[in-house]
Amino acid sequence: MKSIKVGLLGIGTVGAGTFNVLKRNQEEISRRAGHGIEIVMVADLNVERAKELVGSHCEVVSDGNLVVSNPDIDIVVELIGGYGIAKDLVLKAIANGKHVVTANKALLATHGDEIFKAAQDKGVMVAYEAAVAGGIPIIKALREGLTANRIEWIAGIINGTTNFILSEMRDKGLDFDTVLKEAQRLGYAEADPTFDIEGVDAAHKATLMSAIAFGIPVQFDKAHVEGITKLEAVDIRYAEQLGYRIKLLGIAKRTPQGIELRVHPTLIPAKRLIANVEGAMNAVLVQGDAVGATLYYGKGAGAEPTASAVIADLVDIARLADAEPAHRVPHLAFQPNAMADTPI
Ligand code: HSE
Repeated sequence: MKSIKVGLLGIGTVGAGTFNVLKRNQEEISRRAGHGIEIVMVADLNVERAKELVGSHCEVVSDGNLVVSNPDIDIVVELIGGYGIAKDLVLKAIANGKHVVTANKALLATHGDEIFKAAQDKGVMVAYEAAVAGGIPIIKALREGLTANRIEWIAGIINGTTNFILSEMRDKGLDFDTVLKEAQRLGYAEADPTFDIEGVDAAHKATLMSAIAFGIPVQFDKAHVEGITKLEAVDIRYAEQLGYRIKLLGIAKRTPQGIELRVHPTLIPAKRLIANVEGAMNAVLVQGDAVGATLYYGKGAGAEPTASAVIADLVDIARLADAEPAHRVPHLAFQPNAMADTPI
């Protein structure tokens, strides 16, 4: 059984989770993948910390270029985040014929079409289950499980940090800043938490889901984005008294005028399932014309839930790596269809 060799770019919270889960469940994962999956090289600026995490299991370097140009590596996992160096390294990995797994929703929501096009031209796969809703396999559900459906709308709690803040403010009467600090301590928040609280992170994820669901290009710039920073404790209390919960929803909806793409705080009747999604949990409702409403629920952030999605992509790619590109499940978000809707 040939072993698939993986290079990791960045070993922070999710990278460490990926390393640990791969090690812990190695046997089952390899059996399911039909290949051994082995992290052979890690690039991180903090070389000492990275060495402590991986021990003597693999080579640790500070320069990601050494990973993307290593001829032994089959799949590059990008967990650096952001647009600059991450984009450069992802494009270099693709140019060098490597498959890519990334959790970087910001990168894909803004430069996805360029990246997917480069991958398509090179005949490699780009997989990004971990970029949306952490451990929930929502990309796979949209791409494969619901493939028979004309998707009508998607509405989701897709940012764990803001859901955690809203839940804690309501249940414990804590103030915004205290809860945000706790979300950062727990590893839920982005490096720049304004992306969470201003709704940008949720909009990145809604953009990616809409591209798959509606076959449109990734167009983050068309999204309406509104976060939770203008909400006060009193808003949450009044909503409660009126029988509602306030949730930050990411919504993508088919309309006669085109696709609506928006993120904003929403009043939801308290008896609805999605209104009762608490803490850093995520939930995504998808309405398909054949299946009706479906609901996906789970941990949307954190080391091992996100690692679960990263490794699912590694297994997917390992299974398909030997297939002809045309026979692979399409991993590209950009699958333009005749409808050619664009967000309005
Ligand atoms: N900051 C993100 C969140 C992490 O809070 O949901 C997972 O994408």
